[in-house]
Amino acid sequence: DASDIEKGTYPHFMLKEIDEQPFVIRNIIQKYQNDDGTVRLDDDIRQAMKSSDRIYIIAAGTSYHAGLVGKQLIEKIANRPVEVHIASEFLYNMPLLSDNPLFIFISQSGETADLRGVLVEVKEKGYKTLTITNVPGSTLSREADFTLHTYAGPEIAVASTKAYTAQMAVLTLLAVDTANAKGIELDFDPIQELAIVASAMETLCDQKEKLEQIARDFLATTRNCFFIGRAADYFVCLEGALKLKEISYIQAEGFAGGELKHGTIALIEEGTPVVAVTTQEHVNLSIRGNVKEVAARGANPCIISMEGLEHDGDTFVIPPVHEYLTSLVTVIPLQLISYYAALHRDCDVDKPRNLAKSVTVE
Ligand code: AGP
Repeated sequence: DASDIEKGTYPHFMLKEIDEQPFVIRNIIQKYQNDDGTVRLDDDIRQAMKSSDRIYIIAAGTSYHAGLVGKQLIEKIANRPVEVHIASEFLYNMPLLSDNPLFIFISQSGETADLRGVLVEVKEKGYKTLTITNVPGSTLSREADFTLHTYAGPEIAVASTKAYTAQMAVLTLLAVDTANAKGIELDFDPIQELAIVASAMETLCDQKEKLEQIARDFLATTRNCFFIGRAADYFVCLEGALKLKEISYIQAEGFAGGELKHGTIALIEEGTPVVAVTTQEHVNLSIRGNVKEVAARGANPCIISMEGLEHDGDTFVIPPVHEYLTSLVTVIPLQLISYYAALHRDCDVDKPRNLAKSVTVE
């Protein structure tokens, strides 16, 4: 029962939940692997994924950000087209659906009203539905045809952390299982790569002092902050910005690196912090070009790079993980930077103003 969950020695649930992420990933590996080390999901889910011609991911907030990463995972690993939609918009902006769609609802709580509205509507039309959730007995889980459990354990802090990384880990396994079902040969061992992610997360969770200092250097007094990244790094920038906004009340926005110059660069002033994330080799140089553009206008760049792609002077370097899985580790420094920024600004980290843990109204 969630009310029995204690903070233990932690000052906040959020910090505890950030630290739990390596354990959560290892737990997911254990729950979803066969004795021979291969991935195993329900036959029904495998069949639904295999027989659908297009996947529609429906989610909100942080879970939507996990969905954006999930699209890439499923498309790259399982060669299946995926669309990701914000739940609250879907019914008003309904896309043209494929012949045989499968709807995937991603929700930590399994209670988000915006998602339920879509679920009810698509079920009425007779489409197949899968809920990926941290709460298997929840409304979205009960009402969908299938459920995948994210096994992150109860998440108490309003700002979602471990549920996000758990969702992406489960989406990876879903993509792998679908690839297996379709007879696609993988050129990497997903279980091993996720184990590497768990170790990298541990290394990052051990660097709190350094990340606290970064939060102090870049965010102690600022009024706004931009996060820029390209390719997969763009999605984690959206999540980094949301984390910072919701708990520290700093106006933060995540941008695709190349998009800032199409207007938002007008907001860059002397000292504006710009967090640039770079973990993808094919965009490493172009995002660094974007950093130069903002630095030339006075921005204070904080560069978070992945080992192997780092340049002299980068602010923080992340241990290397498989290129498909970088978001699972890059988000950890972003979560911790937000946490310390909120702490230094005297904000209520676990219960930010105006927010509820799950949004059960439309
Ligand atoms: C994340 O930190 C949020 N508080 C919020 O965006 C959340 O992810 C969103 O409301 C979706 O919730 P769910 O995953 O429980 O459906």
